[in-house]
Amino acid sequence: MHKDIEKILFDRETISNRVKELAKEITEDYKGKDLVCICLLKGGVLFLTDLIKEIDLDLEIDFMDVSSYGASTTSSGEVRILKDLDASVNDRDLLIVEDIIDTGVTLSKVVELLKSRQAKSIEIVSFLNKPDRRKIDMDVKYIGYEIPDYFVVGYGLDFDEKYRNLPYIGYLKEELYK
Ligand code: IMP
Ligand code: MG
Repeated sequence: MHKDIEKILFDRETISNRVKELAKEITEDYKGKDLVCICLLKGGVLFLTDLIKEIDLDLEIDFMDVSSYGASTTSSGEVRILKDLDASVNDRDLLIVEDIIDTGVTLSKVVELLKSRQAKSIEIVSFLNKPDRRKIDMDVKYIGYEIPDYFVVGYGLDFDEKYRNLPYIGYLKEELYK
């Protein structure tokens, strides 16, 4: 285990099993649809690549980078588009792939934007959910795990751009961000 990690919440195998279950559900639900998986950079990347390998359908992927966090562990409430999608989403079935939903501010802005571009349908798959922190009510169709309000890193999730490469999700030692 990395020296900065307090405790592992989800290990490699647990993550992999849950990703397969989610992919199975998505495969069932999106039969006959025009699926575009939209990954929110950078945190969603590890989840996206694992997830799409297990979805047994034709699909496309696209990427968007929005930001609501700097080098801190609390939301600023500001959302900026740093990188937009490459392709049009007009009349397509969008599945937003996210690492974690915290306040919901980031995702609600993204959903609003994609709706305005006339997507046919928009759903969200988030590997983690922190319901206690929600500020904006969001309808999240697929959730890997609900977690309490502690800062987590690994499997795409960062603190100050570090720890994304950890193959597990764990609590960061508190002295590192307090
Ligand atoms: P929201 O707009 O507050 O829902 O923020 C969501 C984004 O904040 C996620 O995509 C993450 O990048 C980041 N975030 C929220 N909680 C955590 C955490 O516990 N660890 C790492 N990043 C987090
Ligand atoms: Mg982030």
